[in-house]
Amino acid sequence: MLHALVTAGPTIERMDPVRYISNFSSGKQGYAIANALKEQGINVTLVSGPVHLEEPQGMQVIHVESAINMHGACKELLETSTIDMAVCVAAVCDWRPQVYHRQKQKKQAHDEHATQTVTFVQNPDILHMISHHENRPKLVVGFAAETESMLDHAREKREKKGCDWIVANQVYVPRHHVEEGEFSVFNNEKNQLCLIKEDEVILFDLMDKYKAAKMLVAEMMGAGVK
Ligand code: CTP
Repeated sequence: MLHALVTAGPTIERMDPVRYISNFSSGKQGYAIANALKEQGINVTLVSGPVHLEEPQGMQVIHVESAINMHGACKELLETSTIDMAVCVAAVCDWRPQVYHRQKQKKQAHDEHATQTVTFVQNPDILHMISHHENRPKLVVGFAAETESMLDHAREKREKKGCDWIVANQVYVPRHHVEEGEFSVFNNEKNQLCLIKEDEVILFDLMDKYKAAKMLVAEMMGAGVK
């Protein structure tokens, strides 16, 4: 039985006991891909950041919070099982606060013009780690969240990360910034994916996230991974 690893959802990076930095990922596309892979008879391990979605049945789900946690869970999985395919859909925070304060940070002054500076350090890149691991899955698929020059940036990302395929999508246009008729993927049930292989680009229609997942999984099933 083939074994697939899917990462999904956002990560959250704590600053102090009451504050964190994160992003708008809902986890819907990643969960849909995990379910579509399961329906093809694949053994799925889903490594998920914090989401508000129904717990998927019939697969192992590992819940994590931060990028460091997600990186650790994926690395351990690669080292303890044979992973045949990996799909990194998670919107991993690129940075985390350099310092975690054990106590809630207080305002310095009751002055509305006061400023506060937080220093961030870079998080490990999970997709890059999976693509370069000695137990690398035969098929590694990344996602590329882009707000401009989608194809060029996604192609560049595919090379930089060392994955086989990259799935580009135009994302994170907050609702109130969307002009009438313009598409926003944020918290939307639909998505338009563009699958970029080494020498082929497939643009799927705008469709329900579960249908988009099935289209991507059909391509994966045709990739000849045994
Ligand atoms: N990714 C990851 N670990 C990270 C950052 C990203 O595994 N620390 C993965 C995502 O799951 C996705 C791909 O890398 O599959 C691209 O993520 P994206 O956010 O589009 O790109 P970044 O690497 O963050 O690059 P940039 O912010 O420059 O666009």
